[in-house]
Amino acid sequence: MIESNRADLEVDEVSTYLTEDLETEIAHGIEVSRLAGMLATELKMDQEFCHDVEVAGMLHDIGKLRVSTYLYGGDDDTLNVEKLRYVRMHATLGYQVVKEEGYPERVCEMILHHHENYDGTGYPNNLVGEDIPLGARILRVCDVFAALTSDRPYRKAFDNKTAVELLIEEVRHFDMKVFLPFQSIVHDEIMRRELSQRMNNYNI
Ligand SMILES: [Fe+2]
Repeated sequence: MIESNRADLEVDEVSTYLTEDLETEIAHGIEVSRLAGMLATELKMDQEFCHDVEVAGMLHDIGKLRVSTYLYGGDDDTLNVEKLRYVRMHATLGYQVVKEEGYPERVCEMILHHHENYDGTGYPNNLVGEDIPLGARILRVCDVFAALTSDRPYRKAFDNKTAVELLIEEVRHFDMKVFLPFQSIVHDEIMRRELSQRMNNYNI
């Protein structure tokens, strides 16, 4: 009886963790998808491309669901370096998931390469510059920005202006042809928000 209670408790704890994690991941996917769609439109890409990058934005971290089996199946003594190796597998695992589900190859490739850095320091293939698919270069900047502007267990969200400054510090990771239009999108959003706050203040 005691054993059965303990098992139930463990299942509850794991379910709570996965539910919270899933909610965070879904909210992050929605935000990356929204930003990536806007950025692709700003870059004057055709409708089909914009749609593909929005889908890839929504699903870019889907491989984390498979990685969680490795991360949380182990014990607390698992080395952080080993955990990092598993975390890095999520790009390749995500590619496999969407491929199996029959998504277009272009969407799958965007997901596979969404952690490649423009200077070649990313993963999984250390691709450099324009060898990285354009959709993946778009996802890269949107992904980092969305992560910085959301609350994390260890810190509060950065505001948009601070997040852009932090991106500039790591600008070697991004394609400037993508990064500059992205900055103007964020700038427009800041201006829109400030304007609506001012209108609210004056009850307009
Ligand atoms: Fe990722």
